Amino acid sequence: MKKTILLTGSTDGIGKLAAIKLAKDGHEVYLHGRNAEKLKVVLSEVKSQCGNENIGSFTADFSDLNAVKKMAEQVKREVRKLDVLTNNAGVFESPVAETDDDFDIRFAVNYFAPYLLTNALLPLLKKGKGARILNVSSAAQAPVSLKALEGDNDLSARSAYGQSKLALAMWNTHLSETEPQLTAIVVNPGSLLNTKMVEEAFGYHQSPAEKGGDILYELAVDERYEGASGQYFDNDDGAFGKLYSAARDREAIATLIRHTEALLT
Ligand SMILES: NC(=O)c1ccc[n+]([C@@H]2O[C@H](COP(=O)([O-])OP(=O)(O)OC[C@H]3O[C@@H](n4cnc5c(N)ncnc54)[C@H](OP(=O)(O)O)[C@@H]3O)[C@@H](O)[C@H]2O)c1
Repeated sequence: MKKTILLTGSTDGIGKLAAIKLAKDGHEVYLHGRNAEKLKVVLSEVKSQCGNENIGSFTADFSDLNAVKKMAEQVKREVRKLDVLTNNAGVFESPVAETDDDFDIRFAVNYFAPYLLTNALLPLLKKGKGARILNVSSAAQAPVSLKALEGDNDLSARSAYGQSKLALAMWNTHLSETEPQLTAIVVNPGSLLNTKMVEEAFGYHQSPAEKGGDILYELAVDERYEGASGQYFDNDDGAFGKLYSAARDREAIATLIRHTEALLT
């Protein structure tokens, strides 16, 4: 069955690779990027390389949460229903660490943006049957400080990244419980894949980027993953694995969601 899929951060890295595989299969794919020029180039590349004209695109810089909200409104106007939303856009190193709202950029792009986008798009996801949400986390998850979440701590890129990725996983558990008709999967796409993010942060890689692109593709469309809501796919092992303890801790999750709501509304 052909699916309608929105994949954030699909101008580069594993998001772009997954988008190309999905487009080659004939799915209706919506790309997303922060840079309109780069997105335009990738859009025409995907269309011509995949022989699929059913490809659309949306631009929003996720470090600007108002831009995320505007993009969600645009998606709701232009897309009838969504079968898959892959929250893949992410940042590790950044020349500017703080957003205009005084959040650490890792928390804004890696956690607040997917949180806002997904919640705004729930009506589109609920139109189909068994829609999937993929939240792209990491093996590098670290305990979330609420002060850091609020933007009150100076953090290293590594610490902010790890915290944002655990926050994402904790919210994924919440989402799986509050939206039982959807399948929300949190995924580590594999560590040290050969992408721009890893090159900038570490200067070396351990695995090809395709390892991450392939798992995002499979989790989006493979029937095997129906009903895997609330689970953590750890692509370092190529299998579902154990969630970090905070992503199983109901009280910690409730506290995180309460703080997130207070910060975002
Ligand atoms: N590579 C790994 O080893 C690895 C391991 C674990 C998890 N991950 C996760 O996998 C996801 C994809 O990463 P990648 O390795 O493919 O990195 P990448 O090649 O740097 O791609 C990141 C994507 O996110 C977009 N993005 C970055 N900042 C953004 C912003 N402010 N607003 C909107 N979009 C933004 C980028 O846009 P531009 O094209 O404009 O830069 C790009 O499309 C991330 O969530 C990352 O944390 C990666």
